[in-house]
Amino acid sequence: MIDFIEPLQKLPSNRKSRGHKLHENLIEVYGAMILRVKSRMDAGEDVPDCLVKTLLEVQEDENLDLEDLCMLCAVFTVLEVPPTSSIIQWFLALIALYPEIQARAHAEIDQVVGQETWPAPEDESRLPYLRAIIKEVQRTHAPLWIPTPHYSTEDFVYNGVYIPKGTVMILDCYTMHHNEKRYPDPFTFNPDRYLDDNLSCAQSANLSDAMQRDHWTFGAGRRICPGVTLAERMLYLAISRLLWSFTIHEVPGEPISLKECSGAFGRTPLPYRVNLVPRHDNLGSVLPDDGTVNIKI
Ligand code: HEM
Repeated sequence: MIDFIEPLQKLPSNRKSRGHKLHENLIEVYGAMILRVKSRMDAGEDVPDCLVKTLLEVQEDENLDLEDLCMLCAVFTVLEVPPTSSIIQWFLALIALYPEIQARAHAEIDQVVGQETWPAPEDESRLPYLRAIIKEVQRTHAPLWIPTPHYSTEDFVYNGVYIPKGTVMILDCYTMHHNEKRYPDPFTFNPDRYLDDNLSCAQSANLSDAMQRDHWTFGAGRRICPGVTLAERMLYLAISRLLWSFTIHEVPGEPISLKECSGAFGRTPLPYRVNLVPRHDNLGSVLPDDGTVNIKI
């Protein structure tokens, strides 16, 4: 709000000093972690591959100072969690409310993956209904209905409207996701609308005809979310494995509301509980011994 209504920026407030303090804390916390990795690398220790190690390796070539490294690490750790978890929260709420859609997803997973082991990254392309469900969750409940404002770098004319250089433009995701011409019956949760779409969101974002694009949940243009591929992989693994593992029900007497509430970063459902009923006896045994799951991009 303050960004858009200039006079509000002149009102006295402790926001600036709070912002500076938060920034200082962030640099202190992330800086200490980065310097710990650096000192291990400098000492010739075999540091496992990770974001910090990669950033330190390219630091000189990319001309990055410690603050840049901290901000990059913060963006890739803090910024990614809320929208990803918001999509998972919406998925759990919706799938409990649509048992017939859940049954179709279970049937597809059972046929393609089987019962012995849970979905692997390479199963993704063979699970088109699951992909359609994830895309439909993203369309109906994008965590950010209004992503970061962009501005034009030159004068141009769009659909007969002159847009001068320096104009701030906002992608109105909500309106686009409920455009009847693009999504018939747009307020209905209907994964079938994506059944013929076999592109990932990242591939879809590159389509030359924007009206053919799956959705705009990850933004648009040159500032589109750079984490889209990672986010898609995380969502696929989380959602396919939840569905493989459990039947997801509403808790009796606790109806789930699909009203949106504004979280710290993006929109989530109102708090709710679901019942997760295991679908297999071997749930515990599919996890690796150390309980870790590696994600390959
Ligand atoms: C479901 C998960 C995610 C959603 C819905 C999402 C959505 C978005 C959106 C809408 C934007 C603004 C794009 C625009 O201005 O056009 C954005 C920016 C960004 N996202 Fe994501 N994101 C997700 C996950 C991630 C992940 C996993 C990462 C990193 C690991 C990430 C890193 C970023 C960064 C760094 C930006 C700022 C890009 C810039 O301003 O140039 N996001 N994201």
